[in-house]
Parts: sequence; structure tokens; C-alpha cells
Amino acid sequence: MKDHVFYPSLKTDYPVVDRGKGIYLWDINGKKYIDACSGAVVSNIGHGVEEIKDAMTKQLEQVEFAHRFKFTNGPLQQLAGMICDMAPEGIEWVSFVSGGSEATETAMKMSREYFIEKGKPTKYKIISRWQSYHGNTLGALSMSGNIGRRRRYAPLLADFPHVAPPYCYRCPLGKDPKICNLECAQEIENAIIKEGPENVAAVILEPISGSSIGSVVPKDGYMQAVREICTKYDVLFIADEVMTGVGRTGKNFAVNHWNVVPDMICMAKGLSGGYAPLGAVAVQDFIHETFKNGSGKFAHGFTYGSNPVAAAAGMAVVRYVRENNLVENSYKVGEYLLGRLNQLKDKYWFIGDVRGLGLMTGVEFVKDKETKEPFEQAKGITDKVVSTALKMGLMVYGAPLCADGTKGDAIMITPPLIVTEQEIDMIIDAFEEVLNKIF
Ligand SMILES: Cc1ncc(COP(=O)(O)O)c(C=O)c1O
Repeated sequence: MKDHVFYPSLKTDYPVVDRGKGIYLWDINGKKYIDACSGAVVSNIGHGVEEIKDAMTKQLEQVEFAHRFKFTNGPLQQLAGMICDMAPEGIEWVSFVSGGSEATETAMKMSREYFIEKGKPTKYKIISRWQSYHGNTLGALSMSGNIGRRRRYAPLLADFPHVAPPYCYRCPLGKDPKICNLECAQEIENAIIKEGPENVAAVILEPISGSSIGSVVPKDGYMQAVREICTKYDVLFIADEVMTGVGRTGKNFAVNHWNVVPDMICMAKGLSGGYAPLGAVAVQDFIHETFKNGSGKFAHGFTYGSNPVAAAAGMAVVRYVRENNLVENSYKVGEYLLGRLNQLKDKYWFIGDVRGLGLMTGVEFVKDKETKEPFEQAKGITDKVVSTALKMGLMVYGAPLCADGTKGDAIMITPPLIVTEQEIDMIIDAFEEVLNKIF
């Protein structure tokens, strides 16, 4: 039978997935895969959880859809409450969408509209960082600093400023992280001043970087500094927690590690754990108040923005995370995973850096540990690790071009939050076999 699907890679023979349970997937030939990256840092509660199926089925039996211009629905209201309970104090309102790009695009447009409502209509620019990813729609991609993903669409993108990421292993500003003055945070202030605060609506960043660098954690003080800068210039602070949100890093949200309250939090992936397309933007009360006291309208939105079945899935997933202490498990087992990865770093000449928080970890490969020189890009190390691992039944997530957007190799190990220390040992053994095969 001819396959009519237009795939992301036209030169790849994708295995056909058949079923999933826990941290495992099986293809139609019966081959078993360890999902050590939760797909794309999505399947936070693992595969095949009955409670989620039951919750979605129950909702389907009641009503599958009612448009958001005419109705709200119970699951949506309850999930919004659950998100606000999980989020830092002050986050009180939630706008729903169907995924990560829609969430960041919504935050971008809400920032713009907020300042129109506030009588400051010149504020529209969004400042973000190089080696960041906020999604593939044109607004989200304009904010993203992932050169590889931007390049072909460059003529279509909005001209937003980008600054250096807080990437201490390879400080883009040439500083020594042990004694630096957080010049990377200072760059954000400089960018706001250069653009003119009267033109800047928001700063968006991933509190812990995703697949554009591979689980990079900023130095303590960075997030607090960004919060202060944004407040100083009346610029909204958007935390893109599409990957990190809902427990992935061992806290409900990654910003909790630094006790920082952003103005908006974008989430998706782990919110429904892959059981339904779902995303959300949770915002502070003053933003909602400004709309309420202004035009009383938020013009932006999508048809599926209040889907009750997706919301029922989200509710069941968040409940499952809570009832099974998966945030705590992520923190605890994440420390164990980092310890095991650090053992690999000590053992192998080609592992330059191991990093992360909770069950969001990254491993960077280098040609020379002393100089941190990356491999030649022609060697395609990241792709080789990811594809060889898949062939050997292990799923890891690639973070190519991590060094500066043009070179560098890293992968992320981000198993479902249900993973045990014994399963981590099994993942590390499998990963070591992959490394021995390649290097
Ligand atoms: C931090 C971050 N933001 C946004 C997105 C875009 O999400 P989606 O692919 O669901 O549109 C991603 C996806 O990987 C992400 O990691």
C-alpha cells in the first residue's frame, strides 16, 4: 500500500508504533523501545494509563465539543483551577490552546494586546535568546533563537531582538561563570534600552533550555535578575515552560526553583502528557484586570481552544501527577540520573558536559574535553546517537547545534516522571551500549 503521509524526514523509514505501556513503546513488528525522552519531553506520566482513557471516554460520552464563543465547560474550568493551584502565587487566569507553539504565540499576542489596553500601543517587540525554541508558527519562530529552524523562513519572520543564553559551559560572552556578574542577564536590560522600553512588550525565555542547547540550567540569580529588569521597564516576563512545566524538573514549574513569579507561563506537552493536544497560558491577575477594565475582550484564539475532551485529559493527567507524587519522583530520580550520567562523563573522553534538573537532563559530546572543541558537523554525531539508539531500542532526544547554533552535539534524556532508579540503570546501560557502538 502506498503511504501518503508527508513525513518530517523524507529519507527515513519510520517504524510504525503499535502500543505503549509505562516507559515502553512497541512497533507493529513487536520490537520494544525504552522511551527515555518521553517522545519529545511529552509523555510525563508514561504510556497507556487507564485513568486517562477513562476520563476522556467519559467526557466523550457527555459532549465532545461546544464552541468557546457560546459555551464554557466543566473540565476547562476545573483544569484552570488546578493549573492556578500548581502555579506560583499570583497566577490566576488561564487561556487554553492546543499545543506549545499556540501557547507562546498566544502569550506574544496577549502581551501586545495588554499594552494596547493599557494605553501604551507602541510596545510590541519581544526580546528572546539565541539557542532558544518557542515553536514553529511564524510568531513563535520569530521569538525563537534556533538558527537551524529559523533560517529558511527568515524573510517571513518579525525582526525581534535576541540576546545570549545563560550557557555556562560555553559562556557566549566569554565570562568565567564562577566569578561572572550575570552579564547574560545584563544583556536583556541592554537590549530593552537599545530598542527603547517604550517599544518592548515582553521578554520570553525557557527557564531551563530545551532542545536548542539541551537542558541548560541558568546560574542562580539569573532568573531573579530577569524578573527585576522586566519590572523596572514595564516589560512582561513570559516563562516558556512548554517543556519544563507540570513537574518535569522536580518542581511544578521550573521558575519555582528560583522563587520567581513570571507574568505569564506557557505550558503544553506535560499538561496532557501526550493524551490530547493541549496547551495553556496562565497569567497574573493584573493582566486579566487590564483586559477586563479595558475593552473586555481578548481578540486572539483558536477553534479548539476550549475542547472539553482535551481538558478532561489534562485534568486526569494533572491529578495523576499529583496523586502519584511524580513531581517529587522527578526531583529524586532526576538526581540519581544526573549522578549516573556524571559517571559516564568521568569515564568517556567524548562527554564534555552533563547538566539538568529533575528528569530533564542533557549530555554534550565534544571532540576534545580540555578545549571543549565540538565535533565536525559533517560527522552528524547527534543524529547518529539518536538514530543508532532508536535502532537499538532506546529513545533519546537530539539537541543538535547546541554550541552556538551552528555546531555542537548534545542529546537529552528525559524519561517519563514515573521512572524508577532501576529503570534509570537500565537506560544508562542501554545508552552506554549505543555510545560504545558509535565512538
Ligand atoms: C520550550 C518550547 N516551547 C514551544 C514549543 C513548541 O511546542 P509545539 O511543538 O507543541 O508547538 C516547544 C516544542 O518543543 C518547546 O520545547
